[in-house]
Amino acid sequence: MNFDPREAAMHGIVASMRFPGPDYCEVLRWLHQDLLPESYLEIGVFRGHSLSLAMPPTIALGIDPCPEVDDRWRTETHVPRMPSSEFFAKHTPEEFFRTDRFSFAFVDGLHQFEQTIEDIFSLEVYAQPESVVAVHDTMPLDEKTPRGTAAQNFIRGTSGR
Ligand SMILES: C[S@@+](CC[C@H](N)C(=O)[O-])C[C@H]1O[C@@H](n2cnc3c(N)ncnc32)[C@H](O)[C@@H]1O
Repeated sequence: MNFDPREAAMHGIVASMRFPGPDYCEVLRWLHQDLLPESYLEIGVFRGHSLSLAMPPTIALGIDPCPEVDDRWRTETHVPRMPSSEFFAKHTPEEFFRTDRFSFAFVDGLHQFEQTIEDIFSLEVYAQPESVVAVHDTMPLDEKTPRGTAAQNFIRGTSGR
């Protein structure tokens, strides 16, 4: 399915009507302030709006195959250019953080059910009991919003088998 920016804009409007309240970046800002994470791992960076919410002394790591960022970060930030599956196959967060565990993670990469589950499982390996994982765009607005087969079957109420 091709990405249609007009459809994405419309989904944004529908989402704000169906789920009123603070914007997700506001929620992430609160989480950064409350958790004061030592390390922040983000999957899906795009223009860096959410990644740039990390503040010192947090070390931030944002994984994205094609980010459009200009490196104006507020804290030490690394942006390896690759899909999350490739990152977790070839690297560990320890190469960027001073620990092999992450404190706070945000999953906002490829918006497919299968990929999101894989991303969460990959993160689990590096989680500690206090780690917090936030996942964006988990509530489909209609049958077209999720693109993964399993997700579409899930919405239709079938097992996908
Ligand atoms: C919705 S945007 C991220 C927005 C960003 N988190 C923010 O709030 O400012 C999704 C991003 O995920 C990236 N992406 C797509 N497939 C990915 C993958 N397999 N692994 C990591 N990132 C991926 C895209 O390149 C895109 O930049």
